[in-house]
Amino acid sequence: MNASEPLTSRVPEPELMDDAHQVAAYAGADFSCSDQALVDWIAERWPQGLGAEAVDLGCGPGNISLLLVQQWPGLHVTGVDGAQRMLAVAAQRQQVLPAQCADRLAWHLACLQTLQLGRRFSAVISNSLLHHLHAPQVLWRAVQQLASPGAAVVIHDLRRPGDEGQLQHLLHRHAADAPAVLRRDYEASLRAAFTASEVREQLQQAGLEGLEVIEREDRYLTVAGVLRSPG
Ligand SMILES: C[S@@+](CC[C@H](N)C(=O)[O-])C[C@H]1O[C@@H](n2cnc3c(N)ncnc32)[C@H](O)[C@@H]1O
Repeated sequence: MNASEPLTSRVPEPELMDDAHQVAAYAGADFSCSDQALVDWIAERWPQGLGAEAVDLGCGPGNISLLLVQQWPGLHVTGVDGAQRMLAVAAQRQQVLPAQCADRLAWHLACLQTLQLGRRFSAVISNSLLHHLHAPQVLWRAVQQLASPGAAVVIHDLRRPGDEGQLQHLLHRHAADAPAVLRRDYEASLRAAFTASEVREQLQQAGLEGLEVIEREDRYLTVAGVLRSPG
């Protein structure tokens, strides 16, 4: 493939991650540095904390949910995912946390498309979910439904590189030593990811243009802000 070939459109991947091998590989991978870096970034931007109740959309095996309850002693976190196997791992991990953290975590099995939690949250957080969605408006609708007025919103994901050469460079730089299944997943995720301008368009369509789209490091984008009057 030609290195300068532009990646003009995304290549979607399956939405849910409920295959036993894929769950085991994802849950066994060490994302601790990038996960902690995201929580540190949130803590810097919201030094006063995230309020009383956060929801973590597409929480998977709980990577971010577990860090959030450890970071903020008053925060309750509900992790939502459509993959039962992912939530089973999250529940196992919850058990090894000290009770004062474990007691503030809850898991909810549901797809975003049909999600009904019946309440709003002081923070809506999501890591590495957006690129899975075939129709990204599903996420922005969920943000509007779940955020209470003044809620913190942080949606973090990969962004699609500009061309094939940049994609190969990222794979080499960040996944050269990863197991084959994770390298394949990482490549598929980069191809499925959105660009910052595509996400800005999504936010505009959703009436969420008050949220900021920030390109971070060589491969991330973070949508962040405060929702004054959610839909
Ligand atoms: C790459 S994992 C990210 C897990 C976790 N947020 C983290 O930071 O490690 C993406 C997760 O989103 C879930 N997911 C994908 N599409 C979904 C949907 N439509 N509704 C609910 N969960 C979904 C998958 O099952 C998977 O567990």
